[in-house]
Amino acid sequence: MNQQQDIVLSGIRSTGSLHLGNYFGALRNFVKLQETHTCYFFIADLHSLTTHPASDDLHNSVRRIVAEYIASGIDPEKCTLYVQSDVPEICELYLLLNMIAYCGELERTVSFKDKIRKQPDNINAGLFTYPVLMASDILIHRAHKVPVGKDQEQHLELARVFARRFNHIYKCNVFPEPEAFNFGENLVKVPGLDGTGKMGKSEGNGIYLTDTPADIRKKVMRAVTDTGPVEPNQVPTESVQNLFTIMELVSKPETTGFFRQQYAQCSIRYGDLKKQLAEDIVNYLAPIREKFDHIFNDKEYLGKVAEAGKEKARISASQTIAEVKKAIGINRL
Ligand code: TRP
Repeated sequence: MNQQQDIVLSGIRSTGSLHLGNYFGALRNFVKLQETHTCYFFIADLHSLTTHPASDDLHNSVRRIVAEYIASGIDPEKCTLYVQSDVPEICELYLLLNMIAYCGELERTVSFKDKIRKQPDNINAGLFTYPVLMASDILIHRAHKVPVGKDQEQHLELARVFARRFNHIYKCNVFPEPEAFNFGENLVKVPGLDGTGKMGKSEGNGIYLTDTPADIRKKVMRAVTDTGPVEPNQVPTESVQNLFTIMELVSKPETTGFFRQQYAQCSIRYGDLKKQLAEDIVNYLAPIREKFDHIFNDKEYLGKVAEAGKEKARISASQTIAEVKKAIGINRL
């Protein structure tokens, strides 16, 4: 199968804004993939309903993420960019897949067990069947490759299980088994600014694509470091290495080289490192923020993008649903 026929699909939940981790870990690669593959990218607004967001908040965050995607280089002409709830076929497939998803396997999902601990007052059926909805997102376009982070691999495994089981029960070959897409050398984990771990939406340790220069400077200047290298050529501590890692993504190689050398010579001043890092992040994000400001307020344009994406997505989705129904034996009268 050539790359053009290989279908790539990925979704993002519509909670909060996108940060540097989302950008370097995913978006930047999506921008490349849309040149070589048939790509579907969507905003998973139905998935975010498990936590009952206020309707204005939900609406705004969907609009925001569509604008952030486009500002980051996702081109609605080159891929299919759409909002999950605009494609009713996904919900139809979700119902049908629920019939072949076993409670036991859903109960064992790590993300579900996590939620039971974190939100014991709201363990709804939507949370329980989250992996079925996600499998529907993927299987509705019969995607082959799904670029996702480690935390989603179990969900992807379930999507494969459902695909295989469906084909088996209904003696057909409607669904290919989707695999995780690994960016290989391009796989970067962006660390947070709080010393340990990766940048995350809920960790409060991130720099957002649309942060103002003042926000960025403030956050970087507050980033956790250590008390300084104690001997020449020592391996940097995690908190300092984290700043170098971010620097390698946004700064010129000479800049990172310079500070690394200063660290090795124990002459580094973290204040200088942070100032430089902050300026380089500000400059790196400037074109994205500018484009974002421009399109976020252009509701007419965003409306058109969503409408066109919906139409394209529904073509592929309705073909799948027709084959699924035929295999099951419904709508045959
Ligand atoms: N569950 C994913 C996350 O939390 C988002 C998502 C929903 C998704 N449907 C998908 C990702 C389909 C890839 C494919 O990040």
